[in-house]
Formats: sequence, structure tokens, C-alpha cells
Amino acid sequence: MASSLYTTTTTTTTTTISLFLLYSALLPYPTLSGRVFNHSITPNFTASFLQFVDHSGAFLASKSGSFQARITNSKQESQSYYLVIIHVLSNTIVWSANRNTPISESSELRFSPDGLTLYNETGHSIWSTPSKKRPSSVSSLQLLESGNLIMVDGMNKTVWESFDSPTDVIVMGQELLVGKSLVSSVNEEDLSEGSYRFVIGENDAILQWNRMTYYKLSMDTKAFRDTSLAVEYMVMNFTGMYLMGSNGTVVVIRVILHNSNAVTDDSSTFRILKLDPNGVFSIVKIDATDRSQTPEFMGPADICRVPSICRRLNVCTNGGICQCAPGFHSDPIMKNGDCVPADNSLDLPDSCDGSLSSNGTAVKYMSMRDNLDYFSNDFMDPILRNVTVSVCQDLCSRNCSCLGIFHSQDSGSCYAIQNYLGSLMMKSNPARDKDRLGYIKAIVVGNPNGNSEDKKSNFPVLAMVLLPSLGVLLIAMVPTIIWLRRRRRRRKWARNVNKKTGRANSSSSAEGEFEFSAIPGLPVRFNYDELVVATEDFKTRIGSGGFGTVYKGTLQDGADVAVKKITCLGAQGKREFLSEIGIIGKIHHVNLVRLKGFCTHGGQKFLVFEYMNRGSLDRSLFGNDGPALEWQERYEIALGTARGLAYLHTGCEHKILHCDVKPENILLHDKLQVKISDFGLSKLLSPEESGLFTTLRGTRGYLAPEWLTSSAISDRTDVYSYGMVLLEILRGKKNSSAQTRSNNISGNNINTGDNRSSSSSGESGHRLIYFPLYALEMHEEGRYSELVDPRLGGKVRMEEVEKLVRVALCCVQEEPSLRPSMSNVVGMLEGILPLGEPRIESLNFLRFYGRRFTEASRLEENNEQNEVILYRQPLGNSSTTGSYNSFSYMSSHQLSGPR
Ligand SMILES: *[C@@H]1O[C@H](CO)[C@@H](O)[C@H](O)[C@H]1NC(C)=O
Ligand SMILES: *[C@@H]1O[C@H](CO)[C@@H](O)[C@H](O)[C@H]1NC(C)=O
Ligand SMILES: *[C@@H]1O[C@H](CO)[C@@H](O)[C@H](O)[C@H]1NC(C)=O
Ligand SMILES: *[C@@H]1O[C@H](CO)[C@@H](O)[C@H](O)[C@H]1NC(C)=O
Repeated sequence: MASSLYTTTTTTTTTTISLFLLYSALLPYPTLSGRVFNHSITPNFTASFLQFVDHSGAFLASKSGSFQARITNSKQESQSYYLVIIHVLSNTIVWSANRNTPISESSELRFSPDGLTLYNETGHSIWSTPSKKRPSSVSSLQLLESGNLIMVDGMNKTVWESFDSPTDVIVMGQELLVGKSLVSSVNEEDLSEGSYRFVIGENDAILQWNRMTYYKLSMDTKAFRDTSLAVEYMVMNFTGMYLMGSNGTVVVIRVILHNSNAVTDDSSTFRILKLDPNGVFSIVKIDATDRSQTPEFMGPADICRVPSICRRLNVCTNGGICQCAPGFHSDPIMKNGDCVPADNSLDLPDSCDGSLSSNGTAVKYMSMRDNLDYFSNDFMDPILRNVTVSVCQDLCSRNCSCLGIFHSQDSGSCYAIQNYLGSLMMKSNPARDKDRLGYIKAIVVGNPNGNSEDKKSNFPVLAMVLLPSLGVLLIAMVPTIIWLRRRRRRRKWARNVNKKTGRANSSSSAEGEFEFSAIPGLPVRFNYDELVVATEDFKTRIGSGGFGTVYKGTLQDGADVAVKKITCLGAQGKREFLSEIGIIGKIHHVNLVRLKGFCTHGGQKFLVFEYMNRGSLDRSLFGNDGPALEWQERYEIALGTARGLAYLHTGCEHKILHCDVKPENILLHDKLQVKISDFGLSKLLSPEESGLFTTLRGTRGYLAPEWLTSSAISDRTDVYSYGMVLLEILRGKKNSSAQTRSNNISGNNINTGDNRSSSSSGESGHRLIYFPLYALEMHEEGRYSELVDPRLGGKVRMEEVEKLVRVALCCVQEEPSLRPSMSNVVGMLEGILPLGEPRIESLNFLRFYGRRFTEASRLEENNEQNEVILYRQPLGNSSTTGSYNSFSYMSSHQLSGPR
């Protein structure tokens, strides 16, 4: 139960030198000279990056060497490898096979008579050419001079070609057929599919973002339509870009590209059309003689027409300058550039698949300035015509997929913003569209604590409400203002504290007046007598933990509180205590338990927290007395916890590591409020920082391997614990209770009666397995449903289950730098970021750990989670020996603390 607190402003990194870095240092600029490449390969052939590392992973080249097929990573440091075709001169990836499922440097490509297949490091096939029944088997793989990778059979008949399945690029001569599309990459390094599409339609080429059109080629000033015949394909040659029809005999739409001298065009120039990660499609001319790259065409020409060129609800101006729309400010929590209503009582609704339905919540519309417009208005038909703005709004309020509207007063047209909110732009034709006004849908958030307190109590709460907003300002404002604010705030606190302490004739209050005024952000100081009254002389004990005992209380203003009596304090000074309290007191986030105040009385110290009436997650999750938590509740808890941790790691002035993430420290309140407790308290506990050994505390089962090695502790250490908690949320049982599974692999092989002691090894046909390892194995087999709490009776969303398992596995990877940040976890759970792929080689430690675990659980059944205290050598101590790693895996189970 012990927590430890770790406030640090620096992130520590582990230095690892990968083989690859070494190689790339030796071979910085791969060239063609002096190397002989295959132009064609025959079965059976295998290749991996490491195997062809001398050639930067290239195993096949076109005749003149303009194109190469490689297994390579997109950026030098990246661990994600892809099978790609690269245009050598411009170093552009023009095609990739496995963009959504990268492989590792040692993973293999195999070319067999059945075709091409890519395997991941565990030998599972992750990509292959379609295995149609063919009359004859495949006889060779060739990279043509055009950049087309083709597979031919014994009759020299092409049975597969890469030009048929383009990714985000087409090259000169390549035809993009009607109905096909290019899909942008997430970014230059992550080649997986992003949110933009370039689609060839029957009468136009269009750009879409989440299925919403934001550009039509025919509307471009540089495009000319010759006929209205149906489009069959798009193609580029030396003179331009063409949408062709009528079996390629008629040009439907043409874009003539600038060409200084159309006669001397040949062979010295090459063109690539690419849909960039930022949503713009561009045509670049590459000159073979000087390798220069000249952009010749961009669509849309005004980058502000790209839906999310700026993040949500920013106004894009002057070719990409982003600024929150009036009435909005940059999201202080996520810090990702999204804008949220500046008015704290308003929030943007989740889209439909956010599980908290907006039923019954009050909706408000924030009107936009009349010079602002939304990209889709010019390309979409209104959802209603001849209606008033209130009819339009009503329709939007009733539909969770509607996130805002634009309404034109003159015509009564009602346009909806659906599912996704991008950036706003300035009206392209203000005269024409002047009466079209935008309204963004917002929900009035019930901040029950904040609101009710505001009404009930007087100054201290006011001050507490003021503080967080000051905190936000502090981050944003120039130093002078910081100074001014601080000074003002200090004075305010000094006043408040004086007022508060002056109210009671307390003898203990005299001791630290000076200190109080010097420590900004200090929460309310309670008088001991007040706490005695509030808790009815510490009558109702609601818990005990690493810091001491927790009592329920009710303040004079009626607010319920949890009063923590701290019994195991380190021997540090009062000033340190207060400055820690100051830091914790300043942290306000909807997913973090709020510190309302503190009290010192003689040698005793108390912390007063907001009260969470449903207690800690372990009770609801592992307890047998209530109904099991529904799936949707579990998902919300996972998400809320992730948001809280992300805020601790990146949202506050000081980075705060929790260091003891576990269900006992995740508290629940009515209506699924999720809050993390016990963060930021380490300095209250750790006896001395300067000693030879640093004492770190955590809880067995959630401790990341690096606690036991000399690797640095970082925010990724919390991520590990969080991943372990995710698995418990999924299963409804502690990871420390072994999973029973039958030895035969047939379908329904889990025996998860809720009987904790069922994990006996004697049962015939069953064996015990460490649950995180079981999760890994089921992930490898794609059998995610096996992992779900049987009490849910299958009432789950399978795609969310899979998401949770994959996120959990990413989080518990042994190598901290491979674990996602908490912000990325939030993004993945919300579906904003693509899911990461857990790397098996960084999870193999679970197999070792699992073996130890199984042995141990045979010995001690029904073992309670013991608290452990670990003695850890200070960083920089060079005690990294070969035996170190194996020590780490077993010891977090075997160590038990001298407490
Ligand atoms: C290639 O491998 C397959 C089995 O994977 C085998 O049947 C075939 O004979 C091999 N062909 C050659 C040319 O070695
Ligand atoms: C296939 O093409 C190659 C050269 O491109 C040629 O040498 C070979 O004879 C051809 N095979 C058949 C069966 O046509
Ligand atoms: C490019 O293609 C267009 C349309 O097919 C054709 O009219 C034009 O002559 C071609 N230009 C060159 C240089 O091949
Ligand atoms: C919400 O609006 C979308 C788009 O107009 C529509 O497809 C969907 O059916 C609507 N949902 C409801 C519940 O009306």
C-alpha cells in the first residue's frame, strides 16, 4: 500500500545502442555504385533487413536502378520495418506492403511458389499476396523500370502487381482506377493509414477526411474539364495529370503541369503524386541531373481548407497559423493543441461511441464569428432547408453524431458537422456566405463538487477555484505576469490562512505563519478541532493504507471528505511537508482526487481529500458482494485512470510520477467518476534522498522490472503498472491469482470460476498460468474473448476488449522506451491514435516471470498481495551484470519487505 512520490522535472532516458544505429552509422549514405542487385528473384527466396543491411535492406532493383524493393524502416531510429518500393533518387517510398503492421529488423519476407509473405518475429504471417487458386505457381518476382513490383507465373503472365494496390503515392505512368484511393500515412515515420483519402470518383477526383469531402479537383482553378463522360482512371505523364474516360481515349479532366520546356522533358524528369500525411496531395517533379525536387501542384492550394491542418476548433489563417476560435482555449489537460470552451462549465460532447451518452445533459450552442466557416459546407448538401436556426439546433441536439451546425438565415439551410470536429477556416467568399453562421455544440458539465461548494461555502473554496485557473494562466503568460500573479496569490493565501487560523484560538497555528505565506498553492489549513467534529472523533474508518488510516467526515458546509491521518512520516522538516502539500494541492483534474486541505496538530499530520462514495476499484472489481462492473463501466474506468495519469505526467507544472498505480488507488464515485488517489506523496515518506540507498515503494504485481534493475525510473514505470491494472480490469481478478487453463487447446478452455482458491495445481488436465502471460498468448492467437471476466456473460464490445488487451501489452513491455506514454494510451483508448503493436521480444520476460510465478503459486496458495519495500541502488551505480536481469524477474515476486 505504500506509495512513493516522485516529483521531478527531468525525464530520464535509457540509452540503448541498437544494432541498427551501429549499422547506419557505418553506412550513412547507401549508394548504388559498386553493388549488384537482383532484378528478378525466384522461389524459394527469403530476406530480412538484417540480412541485407549492407544494402540498406534492398534486395531487388529495377534494371536501371531507379527503384528498389527494400525491407527498411521509415526513419533511422525507428524500430518499425516495412517492405517498400523506394524511388532511389528522391528517396521516396512509393509503395509499402505492410503499412499497418510493421515488422522488426529480423523479420522475414519469403517468396515461395505461392507468392510473397511477410512474417513477424514469432513466425506469424502478417501480410501476403492474395493466394488465389492459380493454374500455375509463381515463377518470379520482378521490379519493373516503372516502379511496379510484379509477380509472374510460368507463362510470363502477371499474377499480381503492386500498382494494383497503391498506398499513398502514384508514380508517372501508374493508373489509379476509378473507385480506388490513396490513403495518407499517419506521419513520415509511421506509415500506417492516416485519416485522409484521395479518391477517384466517376466524375471527379476528391479528397476526404473521415468520409467528408474537402476538395474536388474539378473545382481547382488549375483543372479543366473537357467532357462529362465517366472517369475510368487517373494517370500522370510528362505534360500533366489526367482523368481519362472511354477506354483511355478521352480526357475528362486535365491539369497541365508547368514545364519550362516540354520538348526536353524525357527521362531527365520524373513525377510523383503523393497524398501527404497533412492531407494535401502534391505533385513533385524530380530532376535526375541535379536531384532537385520541385513542387508543381498542390491540392487544396489553400492549406487551411484541410480539415485538421490545425487541431480541433483552431482557426487556420495565413497558410497554417493555428489559433483557438474566440470563446475557446487550448486544452489545458491534453495539451495537444485541441481547443476546448474557455468557459469551464462547458465541454465538448464525445462522439456517439463515447459511452457516456449525452442523454439528459444540457446542451448549449457556442456561436462562431460570422467570418468563420467549416470546410465541409461547400461540399455537402444541407441536412435541412427552409428551417430556423432553432430547428436546426434541435435536430443537432437529438443526434449524438452532430457536433455543431452552420445555418444560413436567408436560405434557411442547415448544415451539420458530423462525427469529427476539425479546424475552422476563414470564409472563402464572405460576401456570398455572410449569413451562414456556425454554432458549436457544447454540453454543460455537471461539476457537482465545484458547483455545490461554490454555493455553500465562502472564501476557501473560492480561493481553491481560483487557483487552478491561475495555474493555467501561469503556464501561458509571460514571465512578468507570472511574477505578478504569484505575488498576488501569495498575498491572497497569506490573507486566507490568517483568516482561517485566526478563527480558532489554536496554539499550533502560530508555528508556521511565515512558511505559509512563502509557499504558494497551499490548500486550506484545517483546525484539528474542526476535523474532530467533522469525523465525529474519527469514528468511521473507511480504509487504511501506506500513509495511515482514512476516516470519513462531513465538513460544516455539508461536503463529505476523507480524512487521512498520516502515521508513517519520514523525518523531514515541516517546510518540505508543506511544499509537497502545496504541489499536490495545486493539482486539479477531473480524474485525480482533490486535496481539499490539511492539518497539523502536534506531531500529527492530516490530509483532507474529497470523498468518493463508491470506494476503491478493487472493491467493485474483485468483490463478490455487488454486481460485477459492466463492460462499459470498466472501459470508462480504464480511460479515466489513463487521463488522470496523463495529466500527472504531462499536465502539471512539475512532472509527477505516481509510483503506486493499482486498483486500491483508483477511486469511484456516483455515475462513474474515476479518480486516482495517493499521488504525489513520496517525499512525505522517503526517509532520506541523499543516502546510499534509495527506498522505493510499490506493490508487488504492479512493479515494473526497472524498479529492480539499475534502469531509470520514469513516467513509463507508471505506464507498466497501469498496463497490469488494465489486465485486472479486463479479467475482474487480480493478476496475482493464477489463471487456470486446460492443457488441451480446444475452444473453451478456461476455467475461471470465481473461486479464488481454484488455482490449485492438482486438477487434472489443467495448469496454472500467470494471467499477463496468458494475455500475451491469447493475443498471439487472436483469442481475446478468452481473457474477459466470465461474470460479464459475454456482454462486451469485442473490439474494445482487443484494444484493451493490446494497449495493456504495449504498456507492460519490458523495455520502458517501447511503452507508450500515458497521453498516447489515452489517444489509443479514445480511438484517436492507431493502436500500437506490442513487441513480442519485449514481452518474452513474461514467459520467464510466468514460470517463476507458477512455481511460487503452487507453494503459497491464496497469497495476499504483500507490500514490498525494495532497496534499490542509486542510479549511475554500475552494477549491471549479466545475472541482473534474471534477478529482476523473480525478485519482485519473492522479495517481501521488512515492514
Ligand atoms: C520451395 O519450398 C517449398 C516448400 O516450402 C518446396 O515444396 C519447394 O520444392 C521449394 N522449391 C525450391 C525450388 O526449392
Ligand atoms: C519469359 O520472359 C523471359 C524474359 O523476359 C524469357 O527469357 C522467357 O523465355 C519467357 N518465358 C516464357 C515461357 O515466355
Ligand atoms: C500525356 O497524356 C495526355 C493524355 O493522354 C496526352 O494528350 C499527351 O500527349 C501526353 N503527353 C506526353 C508527353 O506523352
Ligand atoms: C444522425 O445524423 C446522421 C447524419 O445525418 C444520420 O446518418 C443518423 O441517422 C442520425 N442519427 C439519428 C439517431 O437520427
